[in-house]
Amino acid sequence: MIASATLACAGCATAQPTLKEAFKEHFLVGAALNESHFTGRDAVQTAIIKKQFNTITPENVIKWARIHPNPERFAFGPADRYVEFGERNGMFIIGHTLVWHSQTPSWVFENGKGGAADREMLLARMSNHIHTVVGRYKGRVKGWDVVNEALNEDGSLRQSRWLKIIGQDYLIKAFEFAHAADPDAELYYNDFSLEAPAKREGAIALVKNLQTAGVKIAGIGTQMHVKLDGPSTQMVDDTLTEFGKLGVKVMVTELDVDVLPAASRDRGADVSLRFAQNPALNPYTNGIPPAIQQAFNNRYASLFALYVKHSKVVDRVTFWGVTDGDSWLNDWPIRGRTSYPLLFDRSGEPKLALSSVLETAKKTHVK
Ligand code: G3I
Repeated sequence: MIASATLACAGCATAQPTLKEAFKEHFLVGAALNESHFTGRDAVQTAIIKKQFNTITPENVIKWARIHPNPERFAFGPADRYVEFGERNGMFIIGHTLVWHSQTPSWVFENGKGGAADREMLLARMSNHIHTVVGRYKGRVKGWDVVNEALNEDGSLRQSRWLKIIGQDYLIKAFEFAHAADPDAELYYNDFSLEAPAKREGAIALVKNLQTAGVKIAGIGTQMHVKLDGPSTQMVDDTLTEFGKLGVKVMVTELDVDVLPAASRDRGADVSLRFAQNPALNPYTNGIPPAIQQAFNNRYASLFALYVKHSKVVDRVTFWGVTDGDSWLNDWPIRGRTSYPLLFDRSGEPKLALSSVLETAKKTHVK
C-alpha cells in the first residue's frame, strides 16, 4: 500500500493547464457542488472549483425534498447561494433535478385524505413545482435535468409514482411545464447505466418519443458512475455514437470511477441500494495500491479519449463531486467506506489521473 497523499501529482497545479482551459475547444468541464463548496466553507475545494471548472451542478440543494419540502413552503436559500456562486464565477449553471422518483416527499403523491393523489392533482403539483423553481431562476440556470432516471435496466419505463398516477405522458408534461417556465433554458433527460444496450435503447426510444410529441429536449445526460472494469470502452463508445444520432446534445453528467469492490452484482447507481458494512469491501482505508492507481489513471484516460473523440456531440463533462473525501461513494451503497473516485485527493491535491486526463485534450478532434 502507499498513502494516497503520495499519489498526488507534485507540481501539477502550476505546470499544467486547468481542465476548463485544456478542453475549451471540446466541451465544458464541471463538478457537482454541495453547500460547503458554494458558500466558501471549504476554501480549498472552492478554489479548485473556480480554477478548474466552467459549469456546475447542484448535488442536492435543488432536489424536490430540499427545495420544496412542504406543499406551501419552498426553501430557496441554498439554491439561491448556488446560483449566485455560478454567476459570480461566470459558470454555465445546471439545475438538478425537477422530476425524480427519489428524494420527492410523500405528500406530493398523496391526496391529504389518506389516499393517493389522482392524475389531475399530481399534474397540478408538478406544474406548480416546475413553474416556481424554474421560474425563479429563469435566464440564470441555463440547463435543467427535467426528468431523472425514468428507466428500468431493461429499458422499460420505471414504475414510479409519476408513471402510475399520471401515465406515460408525465415525461411530456414535465418538459412542457419547464419550457413554459423558461423558454430559453436547455432541457435534458438524465439517467445512469445508459452504456448497457437494453437501457441505451430505452433512452433512445424515450428521447424519440419526446421529439415526436414536439417536446423541446436539448440534451441527454449519461451519468457515468462507472467502475474500473465496466462498462467497457466499447459500450461507452457505442452509447456516445448512438446518442450522437439523436440530434440533441450529449452530456456526461455525473462522472466518477469507483475503485472499491462491488457490494453486489448490481452495477447501477440506484440510491436506494444499501448493504451492511464489511471490512473486506473497504480495503483501501490507508491508500490504494499502485496497480489500482494505475488502472484508475488508465480508466480516466480512456474515458476522456472517447469524450474527445465524440466532442462533436459531447457538450459537457461533469464530475460528481470535487475531492475524494466528499464523494457520495464514501456512503453508497455501504456507509463509511474510503473511496477514491475523483481527480483530486482528500487534501485537494491533483492526482496523477488529472495529468492522464489532460493529455487526452491534445488529441485531434472535430467540432
Ligand atoms: O444533509 C443530511 C444530514 O443532515 C444528515 O445528517 C444525513 C444523515 O444521513 O443525511 C444528509 O443528507 C444526505 C445528503 O445526500 C447529503 O449528504 C442524504 O441522506 C442522502 O440521501 C443524500 O444522498 C444524495 C443522493 O443523490 C440522494 O439524493 C447524494 O449526496 C448525491 O450524490 C446523490 O446524487 C445522485 C444524483 O442526484 C442522481 N444520480 C445518482 C446520484 C448518486 O446517487
